[in-house]
This record gives sequence, structure tokens and C-alpha cells, in this order.
Amino acid sequence: MQDVFSRTQSLFDLPGGIIYLDGNSLGPLPKAVGARLSAMVADEWGEMLIRGWNEAGWMDLPMRVGDRIGRLIGAPKGSVATGDTLSIKVYQALASALEMNPGRRVILSDSGNFPTDLYMAQGLIASLGQGHELKIVEPEAVEAAIDETVAVMMLTEVDYRTGRLHDMKALTEKAKAAGIVTIWDLAHSAGAIPVDVAGAGADFAVGCTYKYLNGGPGAPAFIYVRPELADRVRPALSGWLGHEAPFAFDPDYRPGAGVERMRVGTPPVLALGALDAALDVWDGVTMEAVRARSIALTERFIAEVERRCPGLELASPRDPHRRGSQVSFRFTEGYAAMQALIAKGVIGDFRAPDIMRFGFAPLYVSMEDVVAAAVAIAEVIDGRLYERPEFRRRAKVT
Ligand SMILES: Cc1ncc(COP(=O)(O)O)c(C=O)c1O
Repeated sequence: MQDVFSRTQSLFDLPGGIIYLDGNSLGPLPKAVGARLSAMVADEWGEMLIRGWNEAGWMDLPMRVGDRIGRLIGAPKGSVATGDTLSIKVYQALASALEMNPGRRVILSDSGNFPTDLYMAQGLIASLGQGHELKIVEPEAVEAAIDETVAVMMLTEVDYRTGRLHDMKALTEKAKAAGIVTIWDLAHSAGAIPVDVAGAGADFAVGCTYKYLNGGPGAPAFIYVRPELADRVRPALSGWLGHEAPFAFDPDYRPGAGVERMRVGTPPVLALGALDAALDVWDGVTMEAVRARSIALTERFIAEVERRCPGLELASPRDPHRRGSQVSFRFTEGYAAMQALIAKGVIGDFRAPDIMRFGFAPLYVSMEDVVAAAVAIAEVIDGRLYERPEFRRRAKVT
């Protein structure tokens, strides 16, 4: 197992002196990406010009890359499309899901969901004007809130703040039994923990590729639709590339086959090329090996930090089987402490009001990194470095 990860660690370009524990926000740069992008720009865009759509296979990239992500989330071939942003994919999934349950009005979500998911639901509800209601309960109360008034259950599997992990299979089964359509946001799951969308029976799953999949800033999102449904769902964003025959230029929309109907417009070819190259790192890596290593790393991190910094309160579940691949600690001076830590070369991030968040990606984070990070955190806390004015100024992106 160690061998797999020493190989993958050598495939990343991390600046010297940095311990990177923020891959749950933006994954680092895989070495292969630069060369791929240069080649795409020079040989494909530069030389082929518009012929690249056919000759370089640009038009097939969204589905080809989707299949590579599918392997990591338990989705069968041809059931994942890539493109757009995750917010857009949430909107698409929710709009289609609501239409599948026309007699019901409740969208069930939880307070651990990422705000954009909730905002997209609020926007869609207003546009539909059919009296839908977004019901937000505490994560622990989701199961009890599943009943026959609910049209759609829309959850993020791993809580972006605390790392708390929902039981996707159990909740999906319970929801299905109550006639509810299910949507799972895998932003903090894909590439972080083993996911089995097909085995869980999820109807829709969406996610981003700039975190644990290392696709780069603004990398395209993905959407999975359960194959049995994919030919029946109506895409709300009926763009020409989701049409059955885009180049027939028919004035009337007819949805394409399967999940391809969730494509919208022209794919972000260069970004998909970067993502495709980034996914090469995963060749020969199983999610089971990643999970085992991630648990070892996070367990050690918690032990080292708690031993050294009793003032930090663990905000993540203590049971590793109930959390994803991140660990969060509460600390009232969390923002300034994180800036001080970053200045020391240990990069994590901060989520309001008081969460210091650390992501663990075995592909490039080692056990030595974990111990060194805990030592640096203790230096920040013991030395009260968070009191320095330069660390207290808030930047736009935290
Ligand atoms: C769970 C979750 N959903 C959605 C998003 C953001 O979506 P987008 O890629 O459209 O910015 C994030 C971003 O971190 C997220 O964590």
C-alpha cells in the first residue's frame, strides 16, 4: 500500500517546504497537467483549429472523462457526464427530480449542506412558482424527516465543515421506500472515500473535480443519473449539446440518449484536458486503499493535535467510519491561527465561524506531513501567533 502512495506522491508538483492539507478545497497540480495543456494548446487548438472537435476527440471528452470519474464513484460506464459547474449540476438534478414527483412539494435537505445547493433550490422554487418548500433539518434529523410528503431528498454526503459522513445507502433506501427521489452531492466524497452510487440506488449524484480529483481551479463538474431513469428525465437546461442530434440544428428540442441529455453547451475543452491528465494519477489506485490510508492519516492527526493543543476542540466525528477524509477543529481564533499556520507552510483553510479545516489526500500527503503539521499547529497556538495583526486581516477567499 505504501508503494502505491509513494508512486502517486511523485506525480504531483508541490512547492518545496509546503504541507498541503487543503486538497478538500483545491487539489494540487499533478505534473502531467502542464504538458497535456501545452500539447493541447499547441498541437490541437494551434494546429488543428476547428478540426480538433473531430480529430482530437474534443466532443467526446465530457463522456470519456465522465467514465473515469465513474470508476471512482461506483457508476457504470456511460452514466456520468462532465461539464459546467457543480451549482449548475445541482440545479439540473433538482429540476428533473422534482418533475418525477409532481404530487409532492417538499425538498428535504440539511443544515450541513453546502450553501450553493440550498441557494439553487431556493432559486428553482421561485422560478417554478408551484409552492415547493425547502425543508432544512439538522443532519442527525434527516432520517426521521423522511416521509411521504417529501418529493426529493438532496444531501451532501460529507459535510464540508465537519467532515461528518451520511450513511448514503441507508438513507437512500429509506427515502426510496417512501417514494422519494434522491440527489447526492459528492463534492467531498469523489476521490476521498469509496462511493457506490449504483449500489446505493441513488437517482442522481453530482460533484466537483477541483478538490480530491485535482482537476484545477474551476475544473468542470459531473452528474450521474441512474441508468434506468436517464432516458426518462427531462433536462431543465435543454441546451443544444444535450439534444439527440445537435448538428441537425432542429428548432425543436429532443433530449439525447441517457445522461448525455444533461450536457448543456460547448464543453470546456482545455479544462477537461487538464482533468483528464489529472485523473491519470488514479490509474492503479483503488478507493479502498485510499480509504485505509486516509483513516490512518486522520487518526494520527487527531491524536497528535489533541495531545499538543488541548485548547482545540474536535469538530469532526471521532469515529473514522463516520467522517470523510477531512478533520476540523474549532478554535475561536481559527481564522488568524490558520493564517499563521499557512505562513509556516502548512496549508489548511477556515470556515466561519470558528472551523480550522484540514483535508487528507493520501495521493500526496504522508504520515510525516501529518506529524509535522501537528507540530506547526502547536507552535501557532502555544506562541499565540494568531494575535499578530498581519494574521487577523480577512482576505476575500478564506
Ligand atoms: C458540497 C459542495 N457543493 C457545491 C460546491 C460549489 O459548487 P461550484 O463548483 O458550483 O462552485 C461546493 C464547493 O466547495 C461544495 O463543497
